[in-house]
Amino acid sequence: MQLFGSVPAEMRAAAMLLESSGFASVDINMGCPVRKVTRIGGGSTMMTELKKTAGLVRGMVEAVKIPVTAKMRLGWDSENLTAPDLARVLEDAGVAAVFVHGRTRAQGFGGTVSLAGIRAVVEAVHCIPVIGNGDVTTPEAAKTMLAETGCAGVSIGRGAFYNPWIFRQTRHYLRTGELPPEPSFDERVRVMCRHLDLMIEVFGEETGCRMFRKVAAWYAKRLGPVIEFRRRLALLRTRDGFYAALAAYQTWRTQFCDDRGELLPKYRQQKLVASFMRPEADSPPGAVRVPKGPVEVW
Ligand SMILES: Cc1cc2nc3c(=O)[nH]c(=O)nc-3n(C[C@H](O)[C@H](O)[C@H](O)COP(=O)(O)O)c2cc1C
Repeated sequence: MQLFGSVPAEMRAAAMLLESSGFASVDINMGCPVRKVTRIGGGSTMMTELKKTAGLVRGMVEAVKIPVTAKMRLGWDSENLTAPDLARVLEDAGVAAVFVHGRTRAQGFGGTVSLAGIRAVVEAVHCIPVIGNGDVTTPEAAKTMLAETGCAGVSIGRGAFYNPWIFRQTRHYLRTGELPPEPSFDERVRVMCRHLDLMIEVFGEETGCRMFRKVAAWYAKRLGPVIEFRRRLALLRTRDGFYAALAAYQTWRTQFCDDRGELLPKYRQQKLVASFMRPEADSPPGAVRVPKGPVEVW
């Protein structure tokens, strides 16, 4: 654990740098389970040393005027569910909010998100907002997490990769109780193309296209049969190459569609279901790549 020595000073300096660069808040990631991060005392390891972590965070809070927040898991493993105690000491240290991914470090990104675990954190703090996180892939999952944990909000990670419309859909569902229709194929394609254009604008054509390979795979996950399209995306190098692959895919895809261009029922995607809303415990594999196998070997 390296919360000694220069680390608190470096974290303070990092917070000050972000503040002076115009950022609105600083979030400290205490949830990362990856070995190269935990080995040097970062990520989930911070959940095992409450006093040192609180001291480090207090130093950051005192160094800046912008809000400092903390992102955590439920604990290192099921024997060490430190999140409620950690949230309380961090509240005393001055964090403005905590975000809780309802899994332990040992669970990685699989297994079931524990709503009871998130609720325990909500109940542990006095007045700061607790934001629930983990597997919110549908508006219904957001509603369930809010209702069953009492959290002040939910944060959405992979669900937004698959479905960037999830925020609008969830807001509508929470306000009206009605599920808005899924975006059409054309709308999905339109937004995917815009995403590529923006990545090229920011990163340049070569890097933007290479980075877009994995982003396109997330969109492709919800488009129906895509095997040929995915093969071409894996080799993506240029904007023109993308549009050629897309045109070929759109022609190829017609064999799976009815006269109106809608996918035939047997080719339609199953609705995503959050782990905590499924009867069985295990998550099906997703398109967003996460480390696999026992966390000890990551
Ligand atoms: C590719 C990827 C990158 C992530 N990067 C971060 C990060 O930089 N900081 C952080 O606090 N969490 C990070 N996370 C964890 C997510 O914020 C989130 O806690 C986790 O994926 C569970 O939520 P979800 O099921 O909505 O994705 C990352 C997750 C993934 C899959």
